[in-house]
Amino acid sequence: MKKVGLVGWRGMVGSVLMNRMVEEKDFDLIEPIFFTTSQTGQAAPNFGKDAGLLLDANNIDELKKMDVVITCQGGDYTKAVYPKLREAGWKGYWIDAASSLRMDDEAIIVLDPVNKNVIKDGIQNGVKTYVGGNCTVSLMMMGLGGLFANNAIDWVSAMTYQAASGGGAKHMRELLSGMGYLNQSVAGELQDPASAILEIDKKVTASLNSDGFPTDNFVVPLAGSLIPWIDSDLGNGQSREEWKAGAETNKILGLDGNAIPVEGLCVRIGTMRCHSQAFTMKLKQDIPLDEIHDMLAVHNEWAKVVPNEKEATISQLTPAKVTGTLDVPVGRIRKLNMGSDKLLSAFSVGDQLLWGAAEPLRRMLRILLE
Ligand code: HSE
Repeated sequence: MKKVGLVGWRGMVGSVLMNRMVEEKDFDLIEPIFFTTSQTGQAAPNFGKDAGLLLDANNIDELKKMDVVITCQGGDYTKAVYPKLREAGWKGYWIDAASSLRMDDEAIIVLDPVNKNVIKDGIQNGVKTYVGGNCTVSLMMMGLGGLFANNAIDWVSAMTYQAASGGGAKHMRELLSGMGYLNQSVAGELQDPASAILEIDKKVTASLNSDGFPTDNFVVPLAGSLIPWIDSDLGNGQSREEWKAGAETNKILGLDGNAIPVEGLCVRIGTMRCHSQAFTMKLKQDIPLDEIHDMLAVHNEWAKVVPNEKEATISQLTPAKVTGTLDVPVGRIRKLNMGSDKLLSAFSVGDQLLWGAAEPLRRMLRILLE
């Protein structure tokens, strides 16, 4: 059995990963070794298999004994440990949730329902570093996989509605605290159906802008508002999150030199863990809608085409419906009334902790175990 070192298994993405590995019985196929940055020597968790004691996640000699290391510990850990481990001559497989190594030439971005061929070629060619993609990119490619696979897209604009979980666990708590703060500021008025809504609104606005509103993590209010900037400022008008869309999509598809332009604005909204995206695409050819539906539906078992009708859309194409599932519904599919039959809209929703983070990692492990 392969020795698989697990780092960052206790955090949010790590916990989702552990749950999925238990559900899919991945632990039956590996010898798990749990690493820690703070509790060396304590008992390892038992996910259906005794795993002894926790080892030091900074101990290169211990890490070197692993056939595979999977880390959800974050980019700082990767930057500190990965180069030392490779310099020490380790030839094992490194599977990483963090973005630090994503665009390195020696790394492949993993999303096997979309790029299993790229992954398989990588393994064949001795590539040892496999990194999960940015969550919006992975979710876009899961939803629109059929169009990418048929080389049908000339360009695509993705306008995102990204959940608090993309920032981390503290950000999710802050969103909920903000919601509660706003509610409490008008709790009395809400009890009284006769109270004036504009007075309520005035109080809510005052609360949103008050010093007491929780903003330690998002810097500005998210609950009752939105934030049209995610990640750092590249100085060219683009956010790093927006840059990733084009860079990572084309790397996932292995389209060196023949890139599909992917652009858009990334926006943080007040949902917990589902990222949604509104797409505008130019197709290379005028493809009938029923053929587009078929391409999307047959590409992978998680992309679910939602009829472009009100009832189906509001019941199936929302974070409330999708959260906690692996489904990536795609709807609002129609030709835009803008003078070209090649211009298409679509809208997708997906759980950013599952396909956007944990799931591609455990599936990469499974590929290595095949
Ligand atoms: N960068 C993403 C976000 C999360 O902030 O929503 C992880 O890919």
